[in-house]
Amino acid sequence: MGFGTGAVESLVRIQPSFWCGRSVLVTGHTGFKGGWLSLWLHRLGAKVHGYALPPPTEPSLFEAARVGHVLASDTRADLADLTQLKAAFSAAQPDIVFHLAAQPLVRASYVDPLGTLSSNILGTAHVLEAARSCDTVHALVLITTDKVYENREWVYPYREIDPLGGHDPYSASKAAAELVAASYRASFFTGATGHPAQVATVRAGNVIGGGDWASDRLVPDCVRSFMVRESVRLRFPQAVRPWQHVLEPLAGYLLLAEQLLSPNGAAFAKAWNFGPDASGDASVGAVAETLAQLWGMGASVESVPSTANPHEAGLLRLDSSLARSELAWRPRWSLAQALLQTATWYQAWFQGADMGAFTLDQIGAYETECPS
Ligand SMILES: NC(=O)c1ccc[n+]([C@@H]2O[C@H](COP(=O)([O-])OP(=O)(O)OC[C@H]3O[C@@H](n4cnc5c(N)ncnc54)[C@H](O)[C@@H]3O)[C@@H](O)[C@H]2O)c1
Repeated sequence: MGFGTGAVESLVRIQPSFWCGRSVLVTGHTGFKGGWLSLWLHRLGAKVHGYALPPPTEPSLFEAARVGHVLASDTRADLADLTQLKAAFSAAQPDIVFHLAAQPLVRASYVDPLGTLSSNILGTAHVLEAARSCDTVHALVLITTDKVYENREWVYPYREIDPLGGHDPYSASKAAAELVAASYRASFFTGATGHPAQVATVRAGNVIGGGDWASDRLVPDCVRSFMVRESVRLRFPQAVRPWQHVLEPLAGYLLLAEQLLSPNGAAFAKAWNFGPDASGDASVGAVAETLAQLWGMGASVESVPSTANPHEAGLLRLDSSLARSELAWRPRWSLAQALLQTATWYQAWFQGADMGAFTLDQIGAYETECPS
């Protein structure tokens, strides 16, 4: 593989003793990132409560890895239903909330802009409202995206202090969710006089890993084609993107939540970037070619450049200096490792392996791998 070996710099210091027995509510637990997070939290000893619509894809990580088996409760409801959401908070009595439920796709947001705005903006406001009504909540980690930044189409990485924007409805909805979070933090979650919970937002970009079957994402598109022995057809083979394994930002979310509950928690109640370093940059074509090689069995890639696609942002990099210096967070897997773990996951699934155990093993490998 032609990718650099990347930045494996320090051990992730997530503390099982912090998580053991803690009640944690995860919205979007039936989705890709939420499924991985729920399994990891359970592995750390947390009592994991889920709130989401049913899995958005078939197959899904939720079903393949039997995420339902690790849950203390599993509410299937819409973020729009504030009564249900409040009831779920009241029943779970969570200490920490990770809010991942959203319409997460740019292209789908062009098809259903109002649904995207509703799920992502009002949905976030409802999570904040439900938290206000629940005394047990001490930390809220609200997942947005790297696309919240006003994209200047320049080479410089974006910092948390850069202006928000949003060309497409998805990006706008997540930038608006950031504003809603900042407003609730300033108005209602103010410590001594308000609700004591600390509210943070987290921004990460393209993540890869096993168990993603979303449409219009490169890795699922590759796997779907490889499985039926067809070439994967690429719209933007030359487009360079930053890539990271899904466990990288999730590790950041966990480290952040630990700090939000520390005596100095208010200092962490702000926005955070979690992106790969420059070694995670690679073209769509190079990533697909590498996945094809790892898959074997004649897997191949075909370029079908097209101009008939809605606007997609060019290269967008995140500056994660804040997370590096204040959370001691570091990317641990190089792009080559992330692609290998990803391809291995899908092949194990394809061959009928126990994907609950397999997924937990990958989390264990991520946790314990020593820096080189
Ligand atoms: N996957 C990525 O590359 C990526 C990159 C940046 C940010 N994110 C963000 O991470 C989060 C999770 O993304 P994902 O890739 O796991 O998405 P996903 O589509 O796999 O999962 C989305 C989850 O949200 C739930 N959901 C959607 N709309 C809902 C609604 N109205 N009410 C209740 N539940 C609803 C779904 O049921 C599912 O559990 C999202 O907030 C997304 O914007 C993802």
